Amino acid sequence: MWHFRLWDVQDVAVFLSIALYMCHLAGAISIHSPQKSLTRSVQEDVFFSVDITCDGIPTIQWTFMSGAVSRTIGTWQPGLYTNITVDYSSRVQHYNNGSMGLSDLRLADAGYYQVTVTETAGSSKDAGFVLKVNEVLYEDLQYLSVSALALACLTGLLMLVMWLLDKVYRKIVAWKRRKEMPENDATELQPL
Ligand SMILES: *[C@@H]1O[C@H](CO)[C@@H](O)[C@H](O)[C@H]1NC(C)=O
Ligand SMILES: *[C@@H]1O[C@H](CO)[C@@H](O)[C@H](O)[C@H]1NC(C)=O
Repeated sequence: MWHFRLWDVQDVAVFLSIALYMCHLAGAISIHSPQKSLTRSVQEDVFFSVDITCDGIPTIQWTFMSGAVSRTIGTWQPGLYTNITVDYSSRVQHYNNGSMGLSDLRLADAGYYQVTVTETAGSSKDAGFVLKVNEVLYEDLQYLSVSALALACLTGLLMLVMWLLDKVYRKIVAWKRRKEMPENDATELQPL
């Protein structure tokens, strides 16, 4: 009975240490992100805010996914190196806490963004964000106002041309009349 009990205790101890080890593995990295779903408009900026804690220096990788598309945006290790994909290099800002800023949004930027944090020991954890990108209304408005302005300019130009033509026509008529005048003048002046 005592022997049996001892085994029990040992089993529990082994189980506990395995559980603790697993907990340690899983718990070593933590990714805190206040907002997982964001909506922005075209040409705006977005900031994927995360705060990473882990043992040692983490490797942070951001990946973009949309439908069948999956591409790496960038990978960095704070203080060691930064590798941002060429397509994104002009629009991405990276931060030591894992956060990423993306500026000048396009419609094609809508999708799923995943940050993967890998520890020196090899374990990793990820977190995802959903980004919606709306087409901007003011772009349409801008387009409309530009069209209206162009129309107004064109109308103004047409009116100016018509006014000029009218003036030229009047001048020609006046000139023609003056050309015919001398005889009339002569005949009219004769009696005087
Ligand atoms: C991460 O760092 C950036 C820049 O210092 C900061 O703006 C942001 O709030 C941080 N994110 C979190 C979740 O702490
Ligand atoms: C940078 O990242 C790209 C894409 O993930 C990869 O092909 C390239 O080898 C990396 N360059 C360096 C210097 O790590």
